[in-house]
Amino acid sequence: MPRRNASPQVTITEPEVAEHWDHNADSWTQRVRAGMDVYREFYNNPAFLAFIGSLRGRTVLDAGCGEGSNTRILARSGARLTGVDLSARMIELARIEEQREPLGIRYEVESFTALSAFADATFDAVVSFMALMDGPDFPAAAAELNRVLRPGGQLCFSILHPCFMTKGFAWLPGEDGQEVGLRIGGYFDATPWVERWKFGAAPDAAAAEPFAVPRFDRTLSDYVNGLIDAGFVLQRVHEPRPTAEACAAHPWLRKWHDHATTFLYFRALKP
Ligand SMILES: C[S@@+](CC[C@H](N)C(=O)[O-])C[C@H]1O[C@@H](n2cnc3c(N)ncnc32)[C@H](O)[C@@H]1O
Repeated sequence: MPRRNASPQVTITEPEVAEHWDHNADSWTQRVRAGMDVYREFYNNPAFLAFIGSLRGRTVLDAGCGEGSNTRILARSGARLTGVDLSARMIELARIEEQREPLGIRYEVESFTALSAFADATFDAVVSFMALMDGPDFPAAAAELNRVLRPGGQLCFSILHPCFMTKGFAWLPGEDGQEVGLRIGGYFDATPWVERWKFGAAPDAAAAEPFAVPRFDRTLSDYVNGLIDAGFVLQRVHEPRPTAEACAAHPWLRKWHDHATTFLYFRALKP
């Protein structure tokens, strides 16, 4: 009995992932920098930055850094940052911003599954914001991130929660139209797919072209066992909920407070 279902005919390669993110990059960058990603601003970033804690004085890799907004947040807080991303356009936009506001960040076009520019044990810490579910090979990524960490170094990453954000996910409305629960489907379906979505709170959301985001669904055990197989010791997991203040400012976030969580965070140690 196979542990997971996947259609062998459907593959999405890393070069194809890069193409999608190159295509998304300009619109993504403009919108993220304008604060239009409400999940990021009011829910995910505050919770994940608190989960990471202070990296002041540390040498840190941001794996899948995109256009670098979060890389810059960590650099401004006193860490020495390197950002890598598969998308050449994302890295170009990050470098332009580094010229405008120099923070000493080095950016490279690299896959987090093959960090050829970096020797073993280069970094005190590796962080990754919402990127490790976007690549096809998590075991390879975990092994490579372990390789570039110093012994005693930590990997902290956020992903879409694999148990809730499945292919068959849908909200279940109650009699008054308010969400009362979730439908989950296809949890074991590992067939890669391209999800299309927008930052719904953007003023021009109705007219905007959706982002095309390759998704590689995994089970919770794929992530936990991938970390263990790569040599990590799991230290902490966290399932963030929007705060009362965030729900008051954006009432549609309340369903994520009451019924489920969008995100899952891991902290793992390289012994
Ligand atoms: C949802 S975006 C997040 C970007 C950034 N971390 C942020 O929080 O704004 C996911 C990023 O992962 C990158 N990515 C996907 N697969 C990758 C890989 N194998 N190596 C490096 N980056 C990758 C994409 O190019 C994209 O920029």
